[in-house]
Amino acid sequence: IHDSSEDASLYVSKEIINLIKERQKEGKTVVLGLATGSTPTKVYDYLVQAHKEDGLSFSNVITFNLDEYFPMHADSIHSYVRFMNEHLFDHIDIKKENVHIPDGTKTLENVKAFCEAYEEKIEKSGGIDIQILGIGRTGHIGFNEPGSSLSSKTRVVRLDRVTLLDAASDFFGLENVPSKAITMGVGTIMAARRIILMAWGEGKAQIIKQAVEGEIRESIPATFLQQHGNCDFILDSAAASALT
Ligand code: F6R
Repeated sequence: IHDSSEDASLYVSKEIINLIKERQKEGKTVVLGLATGSTPTKVYDYLVQAHKEDGLSFSNVITFNLDEYFPMHADSIHSYVRFMNEHLFDHIDIKKENVHIPDGTKTLENVKAFCEAYEEKIEKSGGIDIQILGIGRTGHIGFNEPGSSLSSKTRVVRLDRVTLLDAASDFFGLENVPSKAITMGVGTIMAARRIILMAWGEGKAQIIKQAVEGEIRESIPATFLQQHGNCDFILDSAAASALT
């Protein structure tokens, strides 16, 4: 628990930067699982700063994003491709071929094959070293809404009404929010060797309490993280305020 989201984000960015440097010394790659949304943006700012001011190279970094709305064009202002480019990829020296984001332009017929291939790519790259997560008010991680099973893999999901409502202002109205998304599964996330879930602000306090102290259950997918051996919740004091 940190005093501010600023401090907490600096702490998370340091762990990522240290792993990148360590692997560089060994001549090895690092696989990062990345999230979008408001929560991780300061971490990305610190990563960009490390590149611009300290010369940190991302040439050995491979990334897999958690999710993308479906359907969604990459060049839409709402796409997670655009989000990631704006907040991170356009400002660092990561290789284009090392960036993976679920493809929201697939048709329903071929999206299943895409999801299977996404899982295979994660495995072939050696698996995720550090998975960054935010948390939705429904307790979703990625877009694994209530009802997602522990073994779920990358797939198309229907978004919960609470999630649609939370996205409505970004999309200038509830009717414009895509009702579906492609997301890594709970099982995909749980396979990461290290998981860091971040949450800021009072609005996340109740769901954080349930995720950390509640019974493990499908109706709050973030509770599955209690079973992961190397997962930390990094919170600001407001998000931690309901914990006992
Ligand atoms: C985003 C994602 C979601 C968000 C969550 C919190 O890629 O997977 O689970 O992390 O909805 O969103 P923010 O950070 O906007 O509160």
